[in-house]
Amino acid sequence: MIQFRGVTKRYDNDHYALKNVNLDILSGEFVFIVGASGAGKSTLMKLLYSEEKPSGGTVTIGGINVANLSNDRIPNLRRCMGIVFQDYKLLQNYTVFDNVAYVIRTLGISSKEINARVSGALKIVGLYEKKHAKPSELSGGEQQRVGIARAIVNGPPLLIADEPTGNLDPKNSMEIMQILDQINQRGITVIVSTHDNAMVDYFRKRVITLDNGEVVRDIQAGTYE
Ligand SMILES: Nc1ncnc2c1ncn2[C@@H]1O[C@H](COP(=O)(O)OP(=O)(O)OP(=O)(O)O)[C@@H](O)[C@H]1O
Ligand SMILES: [Mg+2]
Repeated sequence: MIQFRGVTKRYDNDHYALKNVNLDILSGEFVFIVGASGAGKSTLMKLLYSEEKPSGGTVTIGGINVANLSNDRIPNLRRCMGIVFQDYKLLQNYTVFDNVAYVIRTLGISSKEINARVSGALKIVGLYEKKHAKPSELSGGEQQRVGIARAIVNGPPLLIADEPTGNLDPKNSMEIMQILDQINQRGITVIVSTHDNAMVDYFRKRVITLDNGEVVRDIQAGTYE
């Protein structure tokens, strides 16, 4: 599903955020991306959702080279993936329901269909009962669950989560990872960057380690170190 070939990323300076990254991520995989702060985890993810372009090499998703994607085609790309952020990025004035619904309101589907899809996504993350609440009335873990519902409401084949548990305590982190694991079991490819060694050790998924922009380790059913 995803191929990185000789991928290099330099921002505006001489420093390489990514150096000759070669990776294959298959459809249906669950992958942890780990590494020290500044190792390049977020950069790798930003290349996937075309927030940044590689300086060299190719990044291909489902046969499309996202490195060459023109700006007007980026929204189309993002409709094929869900993105989850460390800081949730919820709209504070919107209810839980509307935070999830607004992503699909522009697709020209009926309000009945919107209602069905949003309800389905909220049930997957266990927040259907709180659909009328505002983000400020939710715990951090609940807010992240809204973020996940928003990411999956359009039924994407790929979910990308950049430190989804970075602001959460161990109990909430475990709940979030379990939800991501369940989503993966529905067949969605899941890529999660994290600093949380306990979580990585618990789940025993494929672990890709970045160090100074390079892939230094890539093992199945791995641990953090
Ligand atoms: N917009 C930017 N402009 C310049 N340099 C950047 C930019 N974004 C990231 N970098 C640099 O690229 C390198 C990789 O950063 P990146 O954010 O990908 O690391 P990370 O592994 O996600 O770190 P963290 O665990 O702290 O989130 C770092 O040296 C960082 O300073
Ligand atoms: Mg980061």
